[in-house]
Amino acid sequence: LNDATSPPYYPSPWMDGSGQWADAYTKAQDFVRQLTLLEKVNLTTGVGWEGEACVGNVGSIPRLGFRALCMQDSPLGVRFADYVSAFPAGGTVAASWDRGVWYQRGYQMGMEHRMKGVDVQLGPVVGPLGRSPEGGRNWEGFSPDPVLSGIAVSETIRGIQDAGVIACTKHYILNEQEHFRQPGDVAGYGFVDGISSNIDDKTLHELYLWPFADAVRAGTGSIMCSYNQVNNSYACQNSYLINYILKGELGFQGFVMSDWSAQHAGVSSSLAGLDMTMPGDTAFDTGLSFWGANLTIAVLNGTIPEWRLDDMATRIMAAYYLVGRDRTQVPVNFNSWSLDTYGYEHPYASMGYGLINQHVDVRAEHGTAIRSAAARSTVLLKNNNALPLSGKEKFTAVFGEDADNNAYGPNGCSDHGCDDGTLAQGWGSGTASFPYLVTPLAAIQNEVLQYGSIIQSVTNNWAYTQIEALAKQASVALVFVNADSGEGYITVDGNEGDRNNLTLWKDGDALIKNVTGYCNNTVVVIHSVGPVLVDAWYNNPNVTAILWAGLPGEQSGNSIADVLYGRVNPGGKLTFTMGASRTDYGTDIIYKPPNGHAAPQDNFDEGVFIDYRYFDKNNIDPIYEFGFGLSYTTFAYSNINVIKASAGAYTPTTGMTLEAPVLGNYSTNPADYQFPSNMTYVTAYIYPYLNSTDLSKASEDSSYGLPTEKYIPAGATDGSPQPRIAAGGGPGGNPELWDVLFTVTATIANNGTIPGEEVVQMYVSLGGPDDPKVVLRGFERLSIQAGSSATFTADITRRDLSNWDTATQNWFISSYPKTVYVGSSSRKLLLSSALNI
Ligand code: NOJ
Repeated sequence: LNDATSPPYYPSPWMDGSGQWADAYTKAQDFVRQLTLLEKVNLTTGVGWEGEACVGNVGSIPRLGFRALCMQDSPLGVRFADYVSAFPAGGTVAASWDRGVWYQRGYQMGMEHRMKGVDVQLGPVVGPLGRSPEGGRNWEGFSPDPVLSGIAVSETIRGIQDAGVIACTKHYILNEQEHFRQPGDVAGYGFVDGISSNIDDKTLHELYLWPFADAVRAGTGSIMCSYNQVNNSYACQNSYLINYILKGELGFQGFVMSDWSAQHAGVSSSLAGLDMTMPGDTAFDTGLSFWGANLTIAVLNGTIPEWRLDDMATRIMAAYYLVGRDRTQVPVNFNSWSLDTYGYEHPYASMGYGLINQHVDVRAEHGTAIRSAAARSTVLLKNNNALPLSGKEKFTAVFGEDADNNAYGPNGCSDHGCDDGTLAQGWGSGTASFPYLVTPLAAIQNEVLQYGSIIQSVTNNWAYTQIEALAKQASVALVFVNADSGEGYITVDGNEGDRNNLTLWKDGDALIKNVTGYCNNTVVVIHSVGPVLVDAWYNNPNVTAILWAGLPGEQSGNSIADVLYGRVNPGGKLTFTMGASRTDYGTDIIYKPPNGHAAPQDNFDEGVFIDYRYFDKNNIDPIYEFGFGLSYTTFAYSNINVIKASAGAYTPTTGMTLEAPVLGNYSTNPADYQFPSNMTYVTAYIYPYLNSTDLSKASEDSSYGLPTEKYIPAGATDGSPQPRIAAGGGPGGNPELWDVLFTVTATIANNGTIPGEEVVQMYVSLGGPDDPKVVLRGFERLSIQAGSSATFTADITRRDLSNWDTATQNWFISSYPKTVYVGSSSRKLLLSSALNI
């Protein structure tokens, strides 16, 4: 894979309105037909970093009363705004395995973005998928399992878009680590090119692309291409990934937006399928753009065909109509760059002083759902009859900085770039301001004081004398520990986004040791971005219970108190493996540039074997396996039944597309494209206008006029009908991939004494020598009364039983014997049955 290259694929597929997009497509075409060339360019090009209120803004179309589109982080709430909710992180709610939780969170986040005036919410995340547990942004996404991630991303997208806001699924694709994600200077090495994630076709399809296919099928309005290179071609101008895979095979109908400064060329990125450049300038605030005026020139001189610009604009507008922005849009009423009421409309330029923030409170009753979502996502890893607590324990002692407030306030560190106080989200752009942060200490204290019991705490992890003194008195000790990570532009305690290791932060291991040395009823609560090493203490008999609470968001303390005190019976399960050591995972981050200035080559040699698939393949015992989680009650599994459905044979898609539509006419006279004399130039703002009637001069490009065959790839400007792709045929891929082949049922009984919820999981063995031992293919979270039972039901689709065939470029079902398992985790495969195809 070291010399991996990415094959070219042209022309860029034009939208055709397939799937649920027909109506939006017609409306978008009608809109785009009215536009001038400049107006179309405006839709595609951001106005520059800090040019306007949102983290990303494109140009407006004042003639039609169409205000500029607003793109805003994040995947867990509205970033850089006040009076918003801070939801639990994606990787946390994943552990609920609850479709209802995912949809509701998506809907509520969408509503908050909508009420602030946001058009595109920059989330959800399924890239990184979580190849290496140290990956800095894994927590923004859901799980290293593609099926779990695919279902979670689909529900989230439906929620966001039902609220009338466009979802932007990101980052496409293989943005699996933060180090070297962008070309740039590295301390001690000088310039280093952006990392290349090198991958084979089968692994791409069977693992990393899978949840993106689900996102496309769910109707995601936009997709953000990532910073990194894939097979040595930058993701935002990789024609194979965008044209062939995303818009061809997956039939993606929405628009592809660049990550911030992930665009590295103008003409070639457009021909490779990029539709919108963010934030629009070549680098932050250069005042220059690869598009803007250069896109106007490229269309005027015929380098980029008119149909391609029309397709870019149509895709953007179709996403707008798909989610009903024409009905749901309100004016942008906040400003990312200031919480003040008055300030600059153009913050970078300090121009346009006026009302910029109306402080609209968009939180509604979302705090209740946030509390419940985080409690339902909490995973009980160990319980020696220690939990639930009653609150009447004679002496409750709380330990750990992670139990208490950040002395700088909940939003005291810019973009949450610190690990001070209780950890409830990671750091970077994937964050939102806390309206408040309920600490575990405050919530536990409220609980205990109701009963007049005693509660004391030591929240300095290094106050050994005080820790010992308090631990000795405690009837129950609650120890809070954490591990943080985030986006690479911030370094926290030496971690440049990616974690340097999997150990607990703030000497968490020592804290646990110090407490367990004096208290034989110690409950450990972990707030973390992913797996942490627990080997040193999880088996200690004085550790009587362990909870994983992830990154719970604003209601953190209330959520954990609900579980600790038994109002919520824990039902979450791990969505990653907790291994004994980092080497057990078999994948890792590249921390130092391996080839000098050249792009680090990150070879995904492990193929589809990440997380539990790797542990299974190599017979490595995890401490807590993927899918594991306990309850305050117990469940029994019986009675698996497999019903074969009658699906026809799989038909590859054939035939040709229509030709590329061209929408409208435009003047070819450069004089019509000059900067208007009656307009004020905003410093560093990106415009579509030219500064000369001579296109060559306006381009300021010394190689202007090169014959196009020198730089335009073969076929890239061809708008004639193109062959359709066999594995394609509808959003997400060939619709027959979702044909149901089997329906599996099983009986799950609650044989304990209190009601509880069980996440029942269905795994499949595809049976081949190169296949993982088992792969997750379905799940259902069942609520079951004590002494009752419920029926688990899940479908197995054609896709679920298929492998990717690189020769035919299609999915196929191998002849190896296949087995279905129903179990309580990836290693407790309690029931099984052969699948006779
Ligand atoms: C870069 C991040 O990678 C992306 O996720 C985010 O949406 C943009 N910055 C905008 O903040």
